[in-house]
Parts: sequence; structure tokens; C-alpha cells
Amino acid sequence: MSVSPSGSLPTATFNLPTPFPVRAIETDNYRTKTFVLDASLDAAPGQFIMAWLPRFDEKPFSLVNADPVTIMVTAVGPFTRLLHEMKPGDRLWVRGAYGNGFRPPRPRLRAAFVGGGYGVAPLLWLARSWRPHLAALSVVIGAGAARDLLYAEHFLSLQQHYAKSGSALQLLTTTEDGSAGAQGRVTDLLEDRLAAGEFDLVCACGPDGMLAALEQLGSRYGVSCQLSWEAYMRCGIGICGSCEHEGRVLCLDGPVLQNGA
Ligand SMILES: Cc1cc2nc3c(=O)[nH]c(=O)nc-3n(C[C@H](O)[C@H](O)[C@H](O)COP(=O)(O)OP(=O)(O)OC[C@H]3O[C@@H](n4cnc5c(N)ncnc54)[C@H](O)[C@@H]3O)c2cc1C
Ligand code: FES
Repeated sequence: MSVSPSGSLPTATFNLPTPFPVRAIETDNYRTKTFVLDASLDAAPGQFIMAWLPRFDEKPFSLVNADPVTIMVTAVGPFTRLLHEMKPGDRLWVRGAYGNGFRPPRPRLRAAFVGGGYGVAPLLWLARSWRPHLAALSVVIGAGAARDLLYAEHFLSLQQHYAKSGSALQLLTTTEDGSAGAQGRVTDLLEDRLAAGEFDLVCACGPDGMLAALEQLGSRYGVSCQLSWEAYMRCGIGICGSCEHEGRVLCLDGPVLQNGA
């Protein structure tokens, strides 16, 4: 667990919140922004940080990248709305990275990465990191409507890098109202392909219902799944018990849990 100002060596180790300036802010959609901090972090895709606004609250966010530290924030309540008011140069306190991320795959796997809502956040970094290991990657992004889809253009820009390394990245989108991509849920799009044996591994992050449905499909068709589960987190380090999920402490054992074949 180490955090350092970006570019400085060696990295220091921090278990306490440490302030870093916001370097850049990108608006992703009407309620989601990506924050790039002037910091780097010793971390792997799927791990999360705790972001603290002093005298207000502290909340967990998946890492979109570790160098520089990058998080995607959808405004759903008081903390995330306050984060959205930040400007470049303001300071955000960070501790972590915490938890278990996605486990590196064996070579030449055919994988599906599935993201629901802001669940796409850790998958872009995963797609970049795992490119040398994957024979083929299908990225399936699901949302309620077209205006909720996130990071589709970032995945599209990865396609040429996959092609150069002799593999393929396919991007598929689904919306529940049919305003973009296929109408329905990500699982509607995936079931036939899982049944046909097109994938060796599914990695997913998103709402619990989506993850539970993928877990069922994985066990039905014998495909292993690495699923990143969300829970209410307070300490982030296994002390308070608020993130317990089916007998496991998600901040330590997860958030990515592995199932199946
Ligand atoms: C490991 C992990 C990674 C996360 N990564 C991201 C991320 O990359 N981007 C992002 O925008 N958010 C992420 N979240 C969720 C984020 O922490 C919450 O959205 C945030 O805490 C909301 O705080 P708030 O005060 O704005 O809203 P609150 O008032 O706390 O919550 C608003 C609504 O969201 C629900 N909610 C809040 N937190 C959770 C939760 N953990 N699980 C289920 N429902 C919840 C509440 O029930 C409420 O309905 C992640 C959570 C976890 C545990
Ligand atoms: S958040 Fe406290 S035990 Fe996981």
C-alpha cells in the first residue's frame, strides 16, 4: 500500500489519508466525471482507494489507473456530489490501494469484460494491462440508456493496440431502453456466446443483480468468473465488518472474488 506524488521515487507508504492535488477533471456524462490526481500508486486493476474529504466523509472508488491515480465518480449522493464540485488544483485525500484485484490470466485466454454503470471503471485499465495475455477480448458495457454509457470511446481507441499485438477487441453495448446498442441487459447478449463456449473467462464489475446473473451463467456453462462486488465500506482494511458479503470481508477478500471453472 503505497502512494506517492506522481513521478517521485521511491514511493512512500501511506496507510493514512494523504492529500494530492487534482491534476485534471474530465466530464464523462451528465452525472459522471473522471478525476486525475497528481499522484501515483502501487496497485493493480480491480483494487480500490478510499477518498476522504476532511470533516465530511470517506468513500471507496475503483482505480481507473494507478499512475497517475485516476478515479471515475458518478454523482449519486452527498459525497459524490461534493467531489463533483472540485476543481483542478484542489486537494483530495487518498489512502490505499486496498483489496484484491483481478488475478492475472493464463496466456491466450478468450475473455469477456462486462461493466454495468460505473462498473466499467476498473475494466479499462484491465483491458490495457492484460492485452499481451489475451487471444481475444469482448467488452460488454451496459446501462439504462445511451446517456448513461461510459468509456465506450476509450475502449474503441484500444482496438488498434489489440490488432497490433495480433488479438482482437470487440465492443458491444446494451441499454435497457434500446437507445443505444442492443436493447436489454448484458446477460441477454452474453448467454448464447457463453453457451457456445466462446469465452474462457468473464471479468465483471457492476450492480449486484448483474453480477449474480453472470455468476449463474458462469456455473451453468462452466466458465470461470472474476466478479468485483460492491459493499458499504468504512475502514477498508478488514476491521469494521461493514463490507461482509456471504461470509467474506470484501475490502480484504475482494472486491474481486473468483468463481467457477
Ligand atoms: C469497492 C468499491 C468501488 C467503487 N467504485 C466506484 C467507482 O469507481 N465510481 C463510483 O462512482 N462509485 C464507486 N463506488 C460506489 C461509491 O463508493 C458510492 O457511490 C459512494 O459511496 C456514494 O456516496 P454518496 O455519499 O455520494 O452517496 P450515498 O448517499 O452514500 O449513496 C447514494 C445511493 O447509492 C447507494 N450506495 C452507496 N454506496 C453503495 C455501495 N457501496 N453499494 C451499494 N449501494 C451503495 C446508497 O444506498 C444510496 O441509494 C464503489 C464502491 C465500492 C465498495
Ligand atoms: S470496510 Fe471495514 S471490514 Fe471492510
